[in-house]
Amino acid sequence: MSLFITFEGPEGSGKSTQARRLYERLAAASYPVIVTREPGGTPISDLIRRIVLDLQHSEMVSTTETLLFSAARAQHVAERIQPYLALGGIVVCDRFADSMLAYQGFGSGQDLDELRTLTRIATGGLRPDITFYLDLPAQEGLDRKRKAAQRPSNASPLSPRPPEAGPQEWNRLDARDLAYHERVRSGFLELVKLEPERWQVLDAHLSMDELSARIWHVIEPRLSGIRPLEDHTA
Ligand SMILES: Nc1ncnc2c1ncn2[C@@H]1O[C@H](COP(=O)(O)OP(=O)(O)OP(=O)(O)O)[C@@H](O)[C@H]1O
Ligand SMILES: [Mg+2]
Repeated sequence: MSLFITFEGPEGSGKSTQARRLYERLAAASYPVIVTREPGGTPISDLIRRIVLDLQHSEMVSTTETLLFSAARAQHVAERIQPYLALGGIVVCDRFADSMLAYQGFGSGQDLDELRTLTRIATGGLRPDITFYLDLPAQEGLDRKRKAAQRPSNASPLSPRPPEAGPQEWNRLDARDLAYHERVRSGFLELVKLEPERWQVLDAHLSMDELSARIWHVIEPRLSGIRPLEDHTA
């Protein structure tokens, strides 16, 4: 048995924070686990990430964007995710195919059925076992990201744009307007309604510790089929 866990949600909702914490807790308990992210997760997919998220690529048309996300995903699934699951491991992934439906579908208005077909091609039909959705109003998530990206040297609370460099990436999709990000958020909520058994909805206003505790509460009972690492070498 294996476990494929994904984290979804609007910008700055705490996905990377919680994916990392879950990974650390599982690794500390000797479960076979990797943490990865989309777009990215392999050298080829990371190169595609740089192209698709580059702020300077303002001329990128939506079809290109969608095909690049799909290409990155295809490589990620085939090279990294699927082989690890086949060994009986746990894969924790920061964003996955639902993000494409939310952003390129609900956000940009691309046809959802076409996006689902592309997703099937890219993933070979692989779907997450559990998806955590961290829900936060778009403006609050963008504010969190801006704050994290601001360096003390050039930070200004009145600045309409975040500084160019910072520990937090500010990318081509982040830079879209608030209405776009609100459509993405309501798109995620639509996806939850369509498949409520797969999704776990969490209020991202909760503290990091409270969120981690709730996530663990969902994951712990699902671990009985996963063999800890020492068993694998026995
Ligand atoms: N529960 C929380 N409460 C308050 N702030 C938080 C919480 N979780 C994360 N943050 C802060 O919000 C910012 C964004 O967190 P994080 O990078 O984990 O979000 P993300 O969803 O991965 O963002 P992105 O969409 O950019 O990938 C960080 O500065 C982080 O420290
Ligand atoms: Mg993140």
